[in-house]
Amino acid sequence: MAQHATAEGTAAYARRFDGQLAPAHFRAACGWSVSSIGLGTYLGDADSRTDEQYRNATRVAVERGCNLIDGAINYRFQRSERSIGEALAALTRAQSIRREEVVVSTKGGYLPFDAAPPRDPSQWFYDTFVVTGVATVDDMVAGCHCMTPAYLRHQLATSLRNLRLRCVDIYYLHNPETQLGAVSREVFLERLGVAFAQLEEAAAAGQIQRYGVATWNGLRQPEAARDHLSLAEMVRIAEQVGGRQHHFRVVQVPFNLAMPEALTRQNQRVDGTLLPLLSAAAQLGITVIASASLLQGRLSGGLPAALSSVFANLESDAQRALQFVRSAPGVTTALVGMKQLAHVEENLTLARLSPASPTQFMQLFRHSDPPQ
Ligand SMILES: NC(=O)c1ccc[n+]([C@@H]2O[C@H](COP(=O)([O-])OP(=O)(O)OC[C@H]3O[C@@H](n4cnc5c(N)ncnc54)[C@H](OP(=O)(O)O)[C@@H]3O)[C@@H](O)[C@H]2O)c1
Repeated sequence: MAQHATAEGTAAYARRFDGQLAPAHFRAACGWSVSSIGLGTYLGDADSRTDEQYRNATRVAVERGCNLIDGAINYRFQRSERSIGEALAALTRAQSIRREEVVVSTKGGYLPFDAAPPRDPSQWFYDTFVVTGVATVDDMVAGCHCMTPAYLRHQLATSLRNLRLRCVDIYYLHNPETQLGAVSREVFLERLGVAFAQLEEAAAAGQIQRYGVATWNGLRQPEAARDHLSLAEMVRIAEQVGGRQHHFRVVQVPFNLAMPEALTRQNQRVDGTLLPLLSAAAQLGITVIASASLLQGRLSGGLPAALSSVFANLESDAQRALQFVRSAPGVTTALVGMKQLAHVEENLTLARLSPASPTQFMQLFRHSDPPQ
């Protein structure tokens, strides 16, 4: 039995929903069938009540047609990864799903406390990373970010334990552009190459299937910005360290009604032409996963009336905002944070409907120019 998502497993998962969910809810990406709505686990308190909410949300989301679950080692001080791990272990133990049916992603780069902030963070850092030879204070950027090989090795091993998995399907460097605030672009690109080489090693060892970058500003910024990330440049670096069969295949970028840059801002140069991220990614064969689909919940109410007329068949603003994201050409999955079961139910009701057609999608821009 495979210890990771497979083409066969994810296709079988999609077939479970034949006749219930819209066929276009599942998309082909990285050789898998991936749901157009994914579960995010960023927000919430670091307490046992929220752990239980995320455990239940993961179970119900998987039961309702969501087979992309996204975490990060620092989310809720490792508690989100642990909640995902417990929920998936219970589902596989009960034979409700097979491991091969679900795509699990997580991220490393930020310093994660362990379940709760320590009383003395400096001592905790010293005991956890310095004494063990994992990282030094000088390896840290802005006191919180690191992507040296030894650190990434340690963080991936910890994530695998938290998630109770032998292999993570997608491993992201978390907001690597953070480092551009502290080091030159030359040093940054060198560090990125070394980090990618480490992730190629992890792929060769079967600990991850694909890797990428999960970003906040980097892929949305104008090309001249200090923290701009070039997708084509990252692909080139991956080819240098991993050859043509490299495993850098996925990026995560915030994309929602208020942050549409991945669709509208021409900031990615491919073969000399500036393109929006979604077009550049399509050209470079990179899967795009959208994060913050509801702008951290702020788009779940009070949307302009024009949206209601374009998405007249939808019941709530949250569904309209989510429909915008999952319908954008080039977006594979709209990640939405949801710990409340009512939100899981409401958001996954949308999976019964096809994404908006290109004509319907473009009607959103009829009354005004696309925002920049
Ligand atoms: N740089 C990065 O790597 C990065 C940055 C941001 C996000 N992400 C990823 O993307 C995921 C999604 O982003 P996000 O969690 O920051 O924000 P989000 O998905 O835009 O919004 C999540 C918030 O919306 C609420 N919500 C969900 N469904 C709702 C509904 N139907 N009606 C009303 N409210 C609803 C959630 O409430 P409840 O939780 O209470 O249900 C939560 O407070 C994250 O969880 C994370 O996995 C990555």
